[in-house]
Amino acid sequence: MPRLFYALWPDPVTRAALAERIPEDGGGHAVPPENLHLTLAFLGVCEAGQVEALRALGEGIVSPSFDLPLGEYGWFERAGALWLGADPLPAPLTVLQARLARGLASLGWTIPEPFVPHVTLRRGVRKGCGVLPPRPLCWTVRQWGLFESVGSAQGVRYRPLALWALPPAGPHGLPRLDEFTLWESLAPLPVALVMVGGVHCGACAVLARVLEALSSHKGWPVFEVDANEAGALVREWGVFHLPALYLFVNGVHQAVLDCEAREPSIIAAVEAALLHPAEEAP
Ligand code: 2AM
Repeated sequence: MPRLFYALWPDPVTRAALAERIPEDGGGHAVPPENLHLTLAFLGVCEAGQVEALRALGEGIVSPSFDLPLGEYGWFERAGALWLGADPLPAPLTVLQARLARGLASLGWTIPEPFVPHVTLRRGVRKGCGVLPPRPLCWTVRQWGLFESVGSAQGVRYRPLALWALPPAGPHGLPRLDEFTLWESLAPLPVALVMVGGVHCGACAVLARVLEALSSHKGWPVFEVDANEAGALVREWGVFHLPALYLFVNGVHQAVLDCEAREPSIIAAVEAALLHPAEEAP
């Protein structure tokens, strides 16, 4: 039966930078560079039949990429783990982890609190003192996934069962889509909301905050298209005023949502639109 966890997964450059910050004389043994990661949720031993539900849960959580400043060492006495920690904690990480924990709760898992984001650098460390602060590092987190921990004669290895990209954030902090990424990003999602907004548009900022909260409550992925950047898409869709809000079902346009920028109004509009056949493409 597989032993599973969700984690943020570093790109090769960040992985090398993390490996450089493994203290040489910290005691215990160093984590092999290829194993360095930041655990979002540890599930332990699972039934093989649970993997699909866990994969689907991750697939439905769409978050923007974010910068994670790693500037302090820490030590878990019981686990004997020396780690690199984040300070301050970026909001998109808190949101991603909370959404994952909530989704896991709905599947019957309880994730211990509080969430202490850390990259374990050495294991079997008996004393946490004597390590100078690390050279600060900023990890631009662009990928996370569901992993299996596989034991072998050479030690433990982490096998990705699913990897998900964190798209760059748009001007209002939602995952950004453009004409090149839109269809590919939306196709796997049974329901997704896309706001077309502009950089200096106050109403767009308000709608983005409402969509962010709604996404967290309802589990509907939300995205933004920057009208200033995606001119071709804006012309094709005939966007007249900003913000404009669109509902997609498995990558297919379902409806334009013409409603107030309030959570209950948007939910009602989405639920009504889902009852009707898809509108003509915008
Ligand atoms: P950590 O090293 O970042 O603390 C895969 O096994 C990962 O899951 C480990 O790297 C560890 O993350 C985390 N993990 C393992 N056992 C755990 C446990 N009992 N409780 C919480 N996290 C655990």
